[in-house]
Parts: sequence; structure tokens; C-alpha cells
Amino acid sequence: MHFTRMGAYSDHEVPVIVHGDGCYVYDEHGKRYLDGLSALYCVNIGHGRPQLAQAAAAQMEELAFYTNWSYAHPRSIELAAQIADLTPGNLNRVFFTSGGSEAVESAWKLAKAYHAARGEPTRHKVLSRMLAYHGTSMGALSITGVTALRTPFEPLTPGAFHVPNTNSYRWSDDRDQLWAADAIEEAIVFQGPHTVAAVILEPVQNAGGCFVPQDGYFQRVREICDRHGVLLISDEVICAWGRIGHWFGCQRYDYLPDMITTAKGISSAYAPLGAVIAGDHVAEPFLHGKESFIHGFTFGGHPVACAVGLANIDVMASERLCEHVRANEGAFRERLEGLRDLPIVGDVRGAGYFHAIELVKDKQTKETFNAEESEHLLRGFLSGELYRRGLICRTDDRGDPIVQLAPPLIASEQQFDEIETILRDVLGEASERMADAGARVGAA
Ligand SMILES: Cc1ncc(COP(=O)(O)O)c(C=O)c1O
Repeated sequence: MHFTRMGAYSDHEVPVIVHGDGCYVYDEHGKRYLDGLSALYCVNIGHGRPQLAQAAAAQMEELAFYTNWSYAHPRSIELAAQIADLTPGNLNRVFFTSGGSEAVESAWKLAKAYHAARGEPTRHKVLSRMLAYHGTSMGALSITGVTALRTPFEPLTPGAFHVPNTNSYRWSDDRDQLWAADAIEEAIVFQGPHTVAAVILEPVQNAGGCFVPQDGYFQRVREICDRHGVLLISDEVICAWGRIGHWFGCQRYDYLPDMITTAKGISSAYAPLGAVIAGDHVAEPFLHGKESFIHGFTFGGHPVACAVGLANIDVMASERLCEHVRANEGAFRERLEGLRDLPIVGDVRGAGYFHAIELVKDKQTKETFNAEESEHLLRGFLSGELYRRGLICRTDDRGDPIVQLAPPLIASEQQFDEIETILRDVLGEASERMADAGARVGAA
């Protein structure tokens, strides 16, 4: 199993999810769960949509597969055109992949190839943020900023370097709000701008717990990239397709990247699909004479996945799901903010239907739990108990311990109430348990 402690299943059974309907999924025993994570930030339109199943079946009958290597097929052409209509600015060129890691790998290679084609072959490095997750294949893993995921597989692809993220929870009040943006310029200058190909950032950083950008952050980063001839890649594997209330996350924060990487919600995960969406200027060097982007995946832009992607856009547009998220995110946030009275809740942050609650040992000092306490809290209690109570969400301590929520975009009051009720009970009990454990250690 992926990212799973297999040994944990020696004394309890693997949860087997067999059916989905709207915001809910069912296990093999018929028990219902609120899918507060859209499976893995991806089933954006919710489970069990017949339109997508029908689109897949019709496509299999018409043309189950043809490749995008030297050929094309109608669904990839139509989907690329629709995506180009939805993106801002000149982001008009779409290169399909089967998922997010492949999109990130492809964007890094495209950035290198773009600079080389323009006579700057030394530009090969990429900068990303500490703690950010960008995938697990060797290039994407090198870009990923999570130490525990990287070190077991070193040496990684050379050329990826890491800069500070925008987690401001523990910043002092007098810190310049744009220092994390300026740190990107320092890193580019230190590396030598003529060696840097791209900077890759999520609109809201997932790992670490929904780090939102400071006001003006992306505008400053855009200026820095322009000043040094570096491409800006917006990694929207999670943040596109309505997750933060817009088709693309960069639209929420009003910046124009040179490329967007995306996956997950592009098909609401009904079929594996991802994409790099590049500005016309990025694609331009490859459109003439004997030039080509020497890169591809057999299943990139699979006809069935593209047919599903088109049906997904239809559903999102006809149900106005971006508008729905923008209209309801305040109510969702309010429920989570309401949990701040619990001693263990330190911070609530995020955007749209993408939020995290940071758990702390001491609210006043913002002291976090140590590794042993976090293990006890998350794996010893919270994840099992939340699931037992019927809420699927994510507990994570790749950074400081958090609980993360990203329900399907169709969620509204009823689901927010359920989420709040379960979290209040379970986090309340977690507060008491951690306080008791602390008192025992103190007494000893
Ligand atoms: C921002 C970001 N980039 C890349 C990836 C990798 O995507 P995949 O798991 O589809 O390879 C993820 C996965 O969660 C992600 O969140």
C-alpha cells in the first residue's frame, strides 16, 4: 500500500471503501463516512456521478485508446481547448500527463528545454519551498521539500533547492510580511540567476497545513522571477478545479504564472489525468522546424480520461461549483474557527474548501508537540477515532501536527455541521488525553 505502515494492520483490518455517493463513502460493512478529504483532495464534484461514468463508457466504445505521440484524438483536443478557455492570460498550451508527479516532472523538463532552446542551457535549477509536497518520482521528489520523504532515496535528481514557506503562525509581529518572497530572490542570486530555470509554488501550500500566501506575496515573486529571467510554475495539483473557489488557484491570488501543473480535480479523480498548462511563450520554441519537446508518457491524455475530464468541467460549470465554494467557504471556516475554544486548537487556516487545524500543546506559547507526543496523538488516537466516528480527514505531522479538511465542493451546511460535531468531540477528548499524559510526565 502507498505511504502506509503495513504493520499497523496486523491487529486491525484494512479499511476497504466499496461505494461512494455525493459527500459520503461506504466501507465493506456498509458503514457510512463523510469524505472530508474528497478521497485525497481530488473527488471535487463528489462521488457517484453518472455523467462521468457514461462519458467513460461512450469513449471506450468510440475509441478506447490512441496516443498523443505524433497523433491526436478528439477528446484531448477538446479538453485542451476547454482548459485554455478557462485559464487566465496566455496559458493556452496543454501537455497531458496521468497525474501530479508526472506533471511536475514534465514542467521541470519543459523549463530546462525552454531555456536551452533560447540559448540559456545553464538554467537547470528549480527552487521550491521547505515542507512543500510536489510528488514522489525522482525529479518531483527532489523538488518536494519534506525531509523524511527525501532522505531515504538520496541521492536525488540534482538541481532542486529549497526556500522558506509562508507559514506565518509563529512569525513575530514585526517581521516583514514579504520576507519569504524576498528569500526567493536571495536564493536565485546566491545560486546565480543564469543557473536557475524555475520557481515552483502552490497557491496554498498543502503539506504543513494549508499555508496561505501573505498579501502581495505572489506579486512580489512574479516581479523577482521576471527580474531574473526565471519561470514561475504554479503547482495546482490540489488548488485548481474549484478547490479554493476558482478554476485555477492563481486566479484567487491574482498572479499569472508561466506554467500551471495540475491533476486530481481535473477529472474529479474519476480517471487518472494530469496536465502541464504552459504560456504561449513557453511553448513557442517547440513549434517550429525540427524542434520538439523530447518527452512523453504513453497514457498522457488518455482518451477515456479526457472524456471524463470534459464531463467533469460540464458538471462543475452547470452546477456553478466555483461560485458555490466562494459562497459557502465562510460558513465552513466559521465552523472550524468555532473550535478555537478547545485547548488543543492553535490555528485554523486555509482557503476555499481547503483548511487545516494546527494542534498545539500550549495555545499561549504556541508550543508544539514533540515527535513522541505527536505520534501518540495522531496515530495513537486521532486518526483511528475520527474514522471510527465516521469522518475521513487527514491527520499529518510532516510539519507540526495538523488535521486537514478538503470536502467535495458540493458540501454545504449539513456536512459542515457533521464535521464540526465530530471534530469537537474528538479534539476535545484529544485535549484531555494530552493534558493527562502531560500531567503524568510532570508528576513523574
Ligand atoms: C501540490 C502537489 N504536487 C504534486 C503532487 C503529486 O501528485 P500525484 O500523487 O498525482 O503524483 C501532489 C499530490 O498530492 C500535490 O499535492
